[in-house]
Amino acid sequence: MNNILVDIENNIATVTINRPTKLNALNKETIEELSQSLANLEEDERVKVIILTGAGEKAFVAGADIAEFADFDELEGKKLAGKGQNDLFDVIENCSTPVIAAINGFALGGGLELAMAAHFRVASENARLGLPEVSLGVIPGYGGTQRLPQLVGKGRAMEMIMTAGMIDAHQALTYGLVNHVVAQAELLEFTYGIAHKIMRNSPMAIAAAIDAVNAGYVDGTDGYQVEIDNFGSCFGTDEFVEGTTAFLEKRKAEF
Ligand code: COA
Repeated sequence: MNNILVDIENNIATVTINRPTKLNALNKETIEELSQSLANLEEDERVKVIILTGAGEKAFVAGADIAEFADFDELEGKKLAGKGQNDLFDVIENCSTPVIAAINGFALGGGLELAMAAHFRVASENARLGLPEVSLGVIPGYGGTQRLPQLVGKGRAMEMIMTAGMIDAHQALTYGLVNHVVAQAELLEFTYGIAHKIMRNSPMAIAAAIDAVNAGYVDGTDGYQVEIDNFGSCFGTDEFVEGTTAFLEKRKAEF
């Protein structure tokens, strides 16, 4: 992998987008590498939580690589967005292993879209978030027009998209776009702390919950019915037996 670093320790995979001289902008190769590594990590039984972050102290990801698409025509533009959504952004959202974005600086355009595809986000104090695409004469193409309104509400999303402006970490916290804001030096440790809390729980149940939550955002899918089905499926698993037995025996469950 030329553009990302993957480190697995204590059941946590830290995936670092590593093009700091280009503020970790997402070129085609980086998207392919992220897509491949996500697929590998989801299959890796050691990995219980995945954390996405950016190399350096300045940027999480400053967007899709503008140099790469500047001369695209309509068809190429459509393919770029379609392939990116299909191969990476939707894969992250639907990953059965929890994915947390640790936003360590600029999260712009495709960078914010990447963070929004994760299951939730933690930001450092210096983070700046925005969807500046209309300033380039294009619109967000990696799910930004859909996920931003889901997270912050339609009016705030419209303003962010139309102004192409950036909001700081505290405004992002007020908007509900990030769950926590911490000092940059503490960002990864803080996020690992959340990962450890997650890892005490049943991976099977977490995967079922991710699936049910996401179902509520899929047109034509009854999220309540998916919840009923997934709830029922849990009863047929060893992890359910272990979780309930451990509670009744007044001990910690071992998943
Ligand atoms: N695509 C390609 N290259 C990018 C990039 C992007 N999205 N964002 C930053 N870079 C590159 C710059 O071209 C520059 O490369 P160079 O040193 O070879 O010239 C390098 O990263 C550093 O960026 P620079 O602009 O010099 O840093 P800065 O501190 O002055 O500004 C930003 C930081 C984030 C405000 C600015 O880089 C920016 O506006 N980036 C584009 C954001 C954007 O529109 N993203 C949406 C894309 S759809």
